[in-house]
Amino acid sequence: MSVGRENWGSRFGFIMAAAGSAIGLGNVWRFPYITGTNGGGAFLLIYLGIIVAFGVSLALAEMVVGRTAQRNPVGAFRALGGARWAGVGFLGVFTGFAILSFYIVVAGWTLAYIVQSLRGGLHSTDPKVLEAAFGAFVSDPVAPIVYAGLFIGLTAWIVVGGIARGIERWNKILMPALFVILLVLVARALTLPGAAQGLSFYLVPDFSKVSTRTFYDAISQVFFSLSIGMGTLLTYGSYLSKQENLPSAALTVVLLDTCAAVLAGLMILPAVFAFGFNPSAGPGLTFITLPAVFASMPFGAVFSVLFFTLLAIAALTSAVSILEPMVAYFVDEHGLDRRRTVIVAACVCFLLGVPASLSFGLWNGFTLFGKTWFDLMDFLSNNLLLPIGGLLTALFVGWAWAQPAAHHLSNEGKLHQPWSPLWLFVLRYVAPLGILWILLSSLLK
Ligand code: PFF
Repeated sequence: MSVGRENWGSRFGFIMAAAGSAIGLGNVWRFPYITGTNGGGAFLLIYLGIIVAFGVSLALAEMVVGRTAQRNPVGAFRALGGARWAGVGFLGVFTGFAILSFYIVVAGWTLAYIVQSLRGGLHSTDPKVLEAAFGAFVSDPVAPIVYAGLFIGLTAWIVVGGIARGIERWNKILMPALFVILLVLVARALTLPGAAQGLSFYLVPDFSKVSTRTFYDAISQVFFSLSIGMGTLLTYGSYLSKQENLPSAALTVVLLDTCAAVLAGLMILPAVFAFGFNPSAGPGLTFITLPAVFASMPFGAVFSVLFFTLLAIAALTSAVSILEPMVAYFVDEHGLDRRRTVIVAACVCFLLGVPASLSFGLWNGFTLFGKTWFDLMDFLSNNLLLPIGGLLTALFVGWAWAQPAAHHLSNEGKLHQPWSPLWLFVLRYVAPLGILWILLSSLLK
């Protein structure tokens, strides 16, 4: 089944691809607005705390499982843990569909904003004008759906092409470029008059704003941003050779992702205050504030095009990594044709994306459990499925497969890893109890 699998061309290529998966809309679009709705600084601290407490360990756990089994999520859990663990892989495949359904909608917005910037249509620093433009666009019944379709089409095209040549090559160029642009925009945002208030909102924690909800939003953001809990890092790990030093790779990916999120906060939140926007404005925050920043800087239109292009690409490399595990599953386990599988999976995601897009307009009134389809998919995947997938992965590696895990992590004993008992301890106790506590205390309230 795993014969003839492609491998990454280099260690750097793998790290860039995994970072490309992790760094996406989660960092630039979702992180700043979730931080904004959760009161700023205290949220940032809790977010970082969860990454240190068990985010890194879980990312590493997924990579070890994948590299050892050299298979897709379902096949990997089945091969290493027997049929009863295969369900964890299935959960991941299902989660992929749920995430893509809303991910492609927001990614479609980025494509539309590239076009808008090229036409010079966003040139205003007036919050009302920018809010109205955003609202009018996302509530349109046709245009955003067309852009979402275009985006899933692009994603499918790359996934059909394969691993090393497509995903790896693009990521190696584009991830460094994204960081450069982020830094330039952070510099601009921080020097806007009135930015200081946003900076203190972001960096000075106000613990009176902390509730169980804060922890809940932080944990779901950690899973979403690091791409853990649905088998993406597992699948990417499965294309890795057995000689690589996994812990240092995992740490690098987590560090890059965290830097990107923190920088995105520094780029958006000072500007929110400088222009008098509301930090808890929700999903539109990035799309409303950044155009104001661009309009207030020299060559703003150029930066606008550049930024939304890079954001679209960051979204693309992440979307590819969400589609890949499900495709790998159908191809590896059922022997289906790769191209056909990609096309069918992409069509299903597109169909699921239609109601997600209409949630901002025509179908705004249709709610289930008080949420629109868009919010429901976001909630279901980020607040439930990813944490549950992470919990089960921790239980699998920490309890059911602990000895082999430590052995494979050290490349069959070749690497000196005196800290591996600590890693297993985290997977056995800290991660499962932490996740369960946060999930239950929020859901049972
Ligand atoms: N980490 C991506 C982001 O921050 O945009 C989203 C994502 C990719 C989530 C892959 C889950 C996943 F498996």
